Amino acid sequence: MSKKSGQPGPKETDRPEKPGFAARKIAADILGNVVHKKRPLDGELEAGSGHSGFRALAGNDRSLVRAIIGAALRHRGEITEILDRLLDRPIPEKTGRILDILHVAIAQMLFLDVPDRAAVSLAVDHAGLDRRARPYKGLVNGVLRRLGREKEEITSDIDAEKVNTPDWLWDSWQDAHGAEGARAIARSHQSEAALDLTVKSDPENWADKLEGRVVGNGSVRLVRKGAVDSLDGFEEGSWWVQDAAAALPARLLGDIQGLRVADLCAAPGGKTAQLAAAGAHVTAVDISKGRLRRLEENMTRLGFDVETIVSDLREFEPDDPFDAVLLDAPCSATGTIRRHPDVAWIKSPYDVEKLTEIQRDLLDRVLPWVKPGGLIVYCTCSLEPAEGEGQVAAFLQRHAEYIRLVPIGSDEIGGLNQCVTGEGYLRCLPSHAADPTAESIGMDGFFAARFRRS
Ligand SMILES: C[S@@+](CC[C@H](N)C(=O)[O-])C[C@H]1O[C@@H](n2cnc3c(N)ncnc32)[C@H](O)[C@@H]1O
Repeated sequence: MSKKSGQPGPKETDRPEKPGFAARKIAADILGNVVHKKRPLDGELEAGSGHSGFRALAGNDRSLVRAIIGAALRHRGEITEILDRLLDRPIPEKTGRILDILHVAIAQMLFLDVPDRAAVSLAVDHAGLDRRARPYKGLVNGVLRRLGREKEEITSDIDAEKVNTPDWLWDSWQDAHGAEGARAIARSHQSEAALDLTVKSDPENWADKLEGRVVGNGSVRLVRKGAVDSLDGFEEGSWWVQDAAAALPARLLGDIQGLRVADLCAAPGGKTAQLAAAGAHVTAVDISKGRLRRLEENMTRLGFDVETIVSDLREFEPDDPFDAVLLDAPCSATGTIRRHPDVAWIKSPYDVEKLTEIQRDLLDRVLPWVKPGGLIVYCTCSLEPAEGEGQVAAFLQRHAEYIRLVPIGSDEIGGLNQCVTGEGYLRCLPSHAADPTAESIGMDGFFAARFRRS
């Protein structure tokens, strides 16, 4: 109804939503949950228990939300810097979702294939619908339009690698790997990780079939993306998804055919499957009932028979010692930022400190669970030395009489020289090449060390 008729116009909330509006609104909502409430992104996107708005979206809108949030998190530092340049003064707190709305719009304008006009118009609509953001609707419009007009000038000379990395992580990587090393790690976080599979046998054949290539120590890296469960070999359980670096630690136990092996902190079971495939009798222990259920589903698909136990390792007591033990301890997961860009923004030095204490307790606890002469492999998907090199150096010192380090050789990990340290630890970085010819760059950040109980 027109205003000329003397009747009020439709309220903002009564107007039909533009196509794609729900996806942007939910993207901003989830982004806010991740960066302000520190909720892990995987949980928000979980099919059964995640964000209800996300679950209600159609498949293509869900993909769009994933893409927007991925770009907004991967480039969060750049977007923040751009907003600093565009705004005369910081946006006051308590302005509803305004910053999240702006981040979502800028992620689309600069890093996704979305026309500026669509991104701006949907952001302005969104601001208009949010009670506390509404007064800033004009500002959203002005700021985004200006960015559209002056993209080059506004975005030039931003040090993307540096600003997209929280300072505490940058400092830690710089201390451990030098300025160039830190920059190379940060650069690797700007793009998505490849899809790697661990196959039960014949990686060359699977690489041919799935149009991938063999990397790491026999992993198959796929160039094409798509639904994993529609790929050849999924139904029959011929392979499972596992990063090329994550596939290295379990193999450090050597020939385990017929041995009793404990997989501690086992879920969702990538390493359990490797141990079972190598012929071990595996006992998989994890504190999380839900995650262990997923492990059991995975083992059923793969046709492996393993014993599973839900237990906190700080309380668990095995009946008999094992021939070998793998401890994939809970960690800050900073080695997985390419796959989980939220990790950079939800973890803190405090988390590393707390996790380091837990790792120390678990290491001390599991030592007597391996028979004398048996091997223990400790690993984490963290880039932080405190959860890797520092942790095991202290472990070796505390138990000098009972254990010795068994250095890892690059021949055991597919010739990946870069991933072995002088001490004989495994230290993979996301900036490392996943094959000795350096054709395939990138793998999860992983640390592993191997000990023998004397
Ligand atoms: C890095 S994930 C393990 C990944 C797994 N090993 C794989 O390869 O698929 C760490 C696991 O440790 C488990 N966890 C954390 N604290 C634990 C504890 N105190 N006792 C047992 N499991 C624990 C978590 O539930 C989580 O599943």
